[in-house]
Amino acid sequence: MKRRLAALAATSLSLLGAPAVAQDAIRYVAANCANCHGTDGYSAGGAGMPGLAGLSRTYFVEQMNAFRTGARQATVMHQISKGYTDDQISRLADYFATKKAK
Ligand code: HEC
Repeated sequence: MKRRLAALAATSLSLLGAPAVAQDAIRYVAANCANCHGTDGYSAGGAGMPGLAGLSRTYFVEQMNAFRTGARQATVMHQISKGYTDDQISRLADYFATKKAK
């Protein structure tokens, strides 16, 4: 019985949490960038790695498109930029633009 209640509680919690998870989803996409660009785009600055936090939305989208088309020179961003939809790039732009540049 105790176990059943716990399971029920867990289910209602996850239902309550659902909208928050949907809103937060872009954070999980942004986490794919953290290995190189730092958590939330705050780069440690090693090896000249650019930070993403605080980049303007317009600049961010332009750079991602330039990587996709090859208009901007890159080592890894050509491949990475092609892995995301326009919608994801737009939401990533919003996400990083809301982070204060350090
Ligand atoms: C494997 C490491 C790596 C990962 C992962 C990575 N990047 Fe990059 N990023 C780079 C490097 C290196 C550069 C410099 C350009 C180049 O050489 O490709 C760069 C440059 C950029 C720039 C240009 C910044 C500026 O100041 O002009 C943007 C924007 C960017 N990355 C966005 C992203 C986003 C968004 C993600 C996640 C979806 C991501 N990157 C994931 C390595 C990475």
